[in-house]
Amino acid sequence: MLKRISVSQLRIGMYIHELCGSWLDHSFWRSRFLIEQDSHLSRLQGSKLEWVWIDTDRGLDVETVAAQVAAGSTSDRSGTRAQTLVPVVDDPARKASERAQGVRDASGDLVAQMFSDAQLGRRLDVKQIERLARDVADSIDEHPDALLSLARIKRADQYTYMHSVAVAALMTSLARELGLPAEQVRLAGMAGLLHDIGKVGIPEKILNKAGRLTDEEFEIVKRHPAEGAAILRREEPEIPPEIVDVCLHHHERMDGRGYPDGLAGGQISLLARMGAICDVYDAITSNRPYKKGWDPAFSLGKMAEWEGHFDAEILAAFTRALGRYPVGSILSLTSGELAVVVAQNRDVPDAPVVKVFYSNRLCQYTAGRRIDLADPDCGCRIVPAVKPVDWAQSGLSLPSFID
Ligand SMILES: [Fe+2]
Ligand SMILES: [Fe+2]
Repeated sequence: MLKRISVSQLRIGMYIHELCGSWLDHSFWRSRFLIEQDSHLSRLQGSKLEWVWIDTDRGLDVETVAAQVAAGSTSDRSGTRAQTLVPVVDDPARKASERAQGVRDASGDLVAQMFSDAQLGRRLDVKQIERLARDVADSIDEHPDALLSLARIKRADQYTYMHSVAVAALMTSLARELGLPAEQVRLAGMAGLLHDIGKVGIPEKILNKAGRLTDEEFEIVKRHPAEGAAILRREEPEIPPEIVDVCLHHHERMDGRGYPDGLAGGQISLLARMGAICDVYDAITSNRPYKKGWDPAFSLGKMAEWEGHFDAEILAAFTRALGRYPVGSILSLTSGELAVVVAQNRDVPDAPVVKVFYSNRLCQYTAGRRIDLADPDCGCRIVPAVKPVDWAQSGLSLPSFID
């Protein structure tokens, strides 16, 4: 997507599509390029240019930068360090965030390997998958929000892999919230990693299609649970039947209107009911090239309204696990700023920790000040509802649910 932004909003990792001004106003001989170095950035910001167009399909988006600030991460898509945008946070949180980033980075490659093995009919490396599920669980234990926050950032070409990691992280959090025994928590994480393995059989152009699928295309998509289960059955007994079941039944609905078997209520296993919730939540909150992800808090509310889809008790536990304002939610503050949720205060669900990224007063993106809203001296509160007019005035692109 092309976006016109001010030169002051540029960051390393953004892709310049067009420089708005005469070539005399800048010293770049190219008009389309990736900002890879500090020197590019300082030349642009020191030029007479005021505005540029960026291509968010080929580089970072303004919101992605805000999300990276939220995650405490500033590395760009090429892996080089981007301009530091935020004050250094306290050490344990920073270390947990860096470890979560390590899990995130390694997991992309491992899950890609897993999909490629499945595609080529090779045996899956189940030990590696187990290790990754354990790393995900350790990261969640250490800092419940760090990995969830990072897993929200998905490059278009890695969507299916990072979706698997995100669902693994969500499944692990949910299993812990439900108080399941350690073995079930382990299975939940592995099931998250493997639930969409059957997508290796779906052509890319259908998987990434913008807009509605034709009936024929949808029939092809609907084969992925059974195809995934067939792939996983080849790995029994290392892959236990509970995981095969999540893969086969994560698109079933409580009212029996899901697929592939039209199971209803208690016919669907606990892990598969959990899988359905984590899967849909991550899918609707993720940005895709053809749609903007919904706000996390809004998504939880919407999912609670969809009758017949989900197990209500498990959805309530899922909401408790993520908090009233899940990581990644955008909040409007009484200080006149917009902020993104970066961590929960487990004892005060209405007052998360946020990072400010936009000032409505100054109409510009700001360096991410971290505010613990549970601190009575923090000086601001959440404005209960973000009205569409606030978004419009801010000049940010409107989330699709407000359109
Ligand atoms: Fe699926
Ligand atoms: Fe999925």
